[in-house]
Amino acid sequence: LFARPCRFTYASQRIDQLPAFTLPEVAFCGRSNVGKSSLVNALTGQKTLARVSNTPGRTKQLNFFELGEEGRGRLTLVDMPGYGYAQAAKQVKEDWQGLMFDYLRGRPNLMRVVLMLDARIETKASDLAAMDLLGEAAVPFQIVLTKADSAKPYWLRKRQEEVAGFVRERAAAHPVVVTTSSEDGTGIEELRAELAALAAP
Ligand code: GTP
Ligand code: MG
Repeated sequence: LFARPCRFTYASQRIDQLPAFTLPEVAFCGRSNVGKSSLVNALTGQKTLARVSNTPGRTKQLNFFELGEEGRGRLTLVDMPGYGYAQAAKQVKEDWQGLMFDYLRGRPNLMRVVLMLDARIETKASDLAAMDLLGEAAVPFQIVLTKADSAKPYWLRKRQEEVAGFVRERAAAHPVVVTTSSEDGTGIEELRAELAALAAP
């Protein structure tokens, strides 16, 4: 699935302007700056596919990317804007949360949400709220820890234990947590295998 080039197909800021749901979808969700766009690039092996930035709030739309080809597995990856961006205006936050909620609830072909947590920092209220939202909408989600390359080993273990607790407590959570680094490639092959299992024939 990941052997062939991935194509950008669509960007949408509005829920009434989403592409038709023809393929299974996997959406990348998490706080601003957690590394969503970087992970899409690492998974596809295409460094400039999704736009990455040091400045939180870089991705402002739902960006759709198509992987694979007919007969060999096809899957759409969705790079989402981040939540929990403190500097964003209230109206912007509400718009985004509305879009996120509507998208997550109303997308029958959404097979899984990759919920991304920064391995280096503690869980925020907005992360817990995102997990609650996914649980309420009954959308299966898989937790991915990011930026493992720059987390202290002791802290990384602590985070992994904490996240294992979230998974036990939440029915919508996928049992496998993947620890990743888009910098050094940790966990990328493992996550590819997880996502490839969701592709259409
Ligand atoms: P928004 O679009 O603003 O919500 O952010 P995002 O979640 O898409 O994050 P993005 O991929 O743009 O990355 C944010 C910053 O984190 C960039 O400076 C990246 O270079 C850095 N980054 C992403 N992944 C990793 C990683 O695995 N390790 C390290 N050390 N830095 C990373
Ligand atoms: Mg982004």
